[in-house]
Amino acid sequence: MSAPRVLLLGGTGYIGQAFARELAARGWDSRTLRRSEVDYTRFDRLLELLRASRWDFVVNCAGFTGKPNVDACETAKADTLLGNAILPVTVAQACLAAGVTWGHISSGCIYAGAKITENGTQRVEKDMTSPAAKALLAGNRAAIHGFTEADEPNFSFRHERCSFYSGSKALGEEALRNHEGYIWRLRIPFDEIDNARNYLSKVQRYARVYDNVNSISHRADFARACLDLWDRRAPAGIYNVVNPGYVTTREVVTAIERVLKPARAFEFWADDAEFYRIAAKTPRSNCIMDTTKLLATGVKIRQVEEALETSLRNWQPEK
Ligand SMILES: NC(=O)c1ccc[n+]([C@@H]2O[C@H](COP(=O)([O-])OP(=O)(O)OC[C@H]3O[C@@H](n4cnc5c(N)ncnc54)[C@H](OP(=O)(O)O)[C@@H]3O)[C@@H](O)[C@H]2O)c1
Repeated sequence: MSAPRVLLLGGTGYIGQAFARELAARGWDSRTLRRSEVDYTRFDRLLELLRASRWDFVVNCAGFTGKPNVDACETAKADTLLGNAILPVTVAQACLAAGVTWGHISSGCIYAGAKITENGTQRVEKDMTSPAAKALLAGNRAAIHGFTEADEPNFSFRHERCSFYSGSKALGEEALRNHEGYIWRLRIPFDEIDNARNYLSKVQRYARVYDNVNSISHRADFARACLDLWDRRAPAGIYNVVNPGYVTTREVVTAIERVLKPARAFEFWADDAEFYRIAAKTPRSNCIMDTTKLLATGVKIRQVEEALETSLRNWQPEK
């Protein structure tokens, strides 16, 4: 049987590079397509390319993230919508017309908070920095649950407060609702390679650290799990692809201090009010995601504590 032929869109980006490495490691026949070679954001150009030769799978890592952070999306709204809401549908429709299966990178940033079970009832706690949520984090973690793929996003344009980036990612998912393919939700990528985009590098470089609780995705684990889903022909649909579990930023800082022993001391923002007054413009998503659906397919992915610890132990400068 010949190796699968995979077309990689956005393979030049931070997440796309992890897919390119994983595809090469598997010996699959892949091609990274850049917009500068073929403008794949145009339906006609992409369809022509898909029809010109045999492709088994299209991986769409292209999108508009905002640099250095999502605040940049607030002043580049057209690019944000084009990259995150329109492009995914363009890719899905070109793939449908060409008869090729696709996978798209979505984000967990379309949720805020976590689900709490107390006294036999479940509620959503959007603010996991509240005193009640902090008490649960300290003493009753079994009461805290992540959002599943069946939960409606609660940090989107359909809700009172979200970032333009998160709204555009939720809109992308909504637009893909009736298109069959894989939607892989990534959340706060990190790994062992120092990089301005790596969460572990960001925490080390922030003047002050914002404490909250999140599920996070090891970059290579993420790419491996996404490709495994297609490789084992798991049902198409939405998957939360994070390392199972969650971490507080304080736990991440403690691990950095213990393993990397940096010269600096870490300081935290006093509260949300101070963080948003000084360091951020648009609201940030912080959330916990449930991986039951992913794990039920048989795909293996490390627990978050193991992925975090191994990344810090293997910490290396960017090549
Ligand atoms: N990084 C994160 O923290 C994060 C978290 C959750 C989800 N995601 C999602 O993961 C995907 C990849 O993110 P990334 O961090 O790898 O992004 P990135 O480093 O900015 O790379 C994105 C790539 O997309 C292509 N692209 C297509 N249209 C674009 C446009 N209008 N503006 C900019 N680039 C465009 C570019 O490739 P060419 O021009 O070479 O074709 C670019 O290299 C995105 O959908 C993003 O929303 C990222």
